[in-house]
Amino acid sequence: MPHSAILNVMIKAAYRAGRSLKRDLGEVENLQVSLKGPRNFVTAADRKAEAIVREELAKARPHYGFLGEEGGAHAGADKSHRWIVDPLDGTTNFLHGIPHFAVSIALERNGAIVAGLTYNPANDELFVAERGKGAFLNDRRIRVAARKRLDEAVVACGLPHYGRGDLERARAEIAAAQQHYAGLRRFGAATLDLAWIAAGRFDAYWERDLSPWDMAAGIILVREAGGFVSDLDGGENIMAKSQIAAGNDTMHQELIRLLREAGKEPARQRAL
Ligand code: IPD
Ligand code: CA
Ligand code: CA
Repeated sequence: MPHSAILNVMIKAAYRAGRSLKRDLGEVENLQVSLKGPRNFVTAADRKAEAIVREELAKARPHYGFLGEEGGAHAGADKSHRWIVDPLDGTTNFLHGIPHFAVSIALERNGAIVAGLTYNPANDELFVAERGKGAFLNDRRIRVAARKRLDEAVVACGLPHYGRGDLERARAEIAAAQQHYAGLRRFGAATLDLAWIAAGRFDAYWERDLSPWDMAAGIILVREAGGFVSDLDGGENIMAKSQIAAGNDTMHQELIRLLREAGKEPARQRAL
């Protein structure tokens, strides 16, 4: 399937960074047995991947702005375009040698995401989408799952990191989800969670405390696959609230309802 020029630029950048990460994953596996562990090596691998993506994108579009997890924001002369990049999503997985991580690149035009890509170099799965052109996995068109029954749904979520986030609320949400869904998953790479919604593997997904680079590419992937994304109140403020809910129409709405109900639980328990 022929891609637009801009998507080709993004793909080239992701493949180059992905090759670097895949090489480094081999070394991470070796370092597991060392006392020091692979942490510093992984930080360097992450930064190197971002430098590669930035260099490739800048070669083709030197005036676009750039927002990367590692290097932060760089304004460009072209104020209407900005890249949003997570060079290594799923760092904890990568650190442990778990082959579930990704390079994720999105293009924002006048504040709206118009193209997105998420690439897992470990299994060579490339998810891409452009506004109005559909979503694809390795050149095959993808659609969100059609399932409507919650008791058949496999649902992905995030969990607060060690020492961070609202554990009580997370437990209430997980408990509510467990009462309705067939299965819950926490795979540890938000960009892939959203890509897997687009591919119909997960039926729904929610997470809080995310950053723009965790969600940007996934937003367009899910929408172009026929799905819905919103903040956890069902509104448009995904980036501002740093949270996302995704799924097909029914799954998305049911998820918002379920989380709203779960939100009432801790207050009720405190009152008892
Ligand atoms: C993280 C992953 C993880 C999510 C975290 C993110 P990182 O990104 O996407 O799944 O739960 O909140 O920060 O740190 O691996 O790039
Ligand atoms: Ca991330
Ligand atoms: Ca990252």
